[in-house]
Amino acid sequence: MNVLVSGGLGYIGSHTVVELVKRHHDVVVVDNLYNADADVQLRIEKITGKKLTTYIADCADAEAMEKIFSSHKVDCVIHFAGYKAVGESVRKPLMYYHNNLLSTLVLLEAMKKHNVHQMVFSSSATVYSPENTSPFREEMRLAATNPYGWTKLMIERILTDYATADPSFSAILLRYFNPIGAHDSGLLGERPVGIPNNLLPYICQVADGTREKLSVFGDDYATPDGTGVRDYLHVVDLALGHVAALEKMANRPGAHAFNLGTGKGTSVLELVHAFEQASHLTIPYVVTDRRPGDIDTVVADPSKAEKELEWKATHSIEEACASAWHFQQHVKDSL
Ligand code: WQD
Repeated sequence: MNVLVSGGLGYIGSHTVVELVKRHHDVVVVDNLYNADADVQLRIEKITGKKLTTYIADCADAEAMEKIFSSHKVDCVIHFAGYKAVGESVRKPLMYYHNNLLSTLVLLEAMKKHNVHQMVFSSSATVYSPENTSPFREEMRLAATNPYGWTKLMIERILTDYATADPSFSAILLRYFNPIGAHDSGLLGERPVGIPNNLLPYICQVADGTREKLSVFGDDYATPDGTGVRDYLHVVDLALGHVAALEKMANRPGAHAFNLGTGKGTSVLELVHAFEQASHLTIPYVVTDRRPGDIDTVVADPSKAEKELEWKATHSIEEACASAWHFQQHVKDSL
């Protein structure tokens, strides 16, 4: 299929582009480099051995989108582009609502004009109300707790209403749990700008000496070891979930949500120990106060994706930790 990938040079986008190209899909990438490095195109080409058509542009730029859709046949759009830092969204809500919503609306207008009827959307487990108890199922109550999460929920609503109004349009809403890890080549992985918000990238920076020690945000949660429990899934499993959505759900009318997670919970300390096993290093840490907004446990029920997308996460936590550490050690190597 001819696939346009917005945010295709980002962490999850780039891993998905690799898997699409490996399966002989024709891919065009659009990325504004807000949260991606320009050399990722080269890294993807090195992995796949194929040239990658890439536009450095903003999806909110209607003129740029018109030019791109006029120059390429597109069957489906996989929409990753968007700001994604929870804390930043609380500090800068207007920036998040403007960027994430406007870029989606401009993209949808361009799709409509050029008869593109399918979108796979990068949603998130943050759309689930924290009142739910894990494992989260797709039909559970939706309510975000931060502007970032609200933009994801609002975009799910936009896509659902659009699919209701136009039966020729179909949307797959992929709700990610906690993506971790990197490509086995050591060429692609998570490269947070500044101090990492997320756990494994922070651990990787403690491991390479960039950071002195890990702060464990609270050990008084109602979990087996008192630290927060999450559903960590390997980014390559996540990428394959997008390929499955694209290939299995082609032309299925309506909007359909799927959880992409392992269904298994891992605590902060369990992840630290898995990383130590994988890297043969010791990760120093100190227990601090809870981070505001965090909840005890967030784990997926992935059975709907397993059944309808015939997709299941296969990589282990240890493999994800090993791949993340391999990437951290080699990311600065010359290409
Ligand atoms: C995981 C656990 C922390 C850092 C976020 C977003 C979510 C999604 C994934 C986009 C928690 C603990 C963390 C640290 C710690 N992103 N932790 N010390 O918060 O589950 O989800 O990323 O869709 O939208 O909310 O992930 O990696 O930040 O935290 O103890 O330095 O690790 O308390 O229990 P989170 P995380």
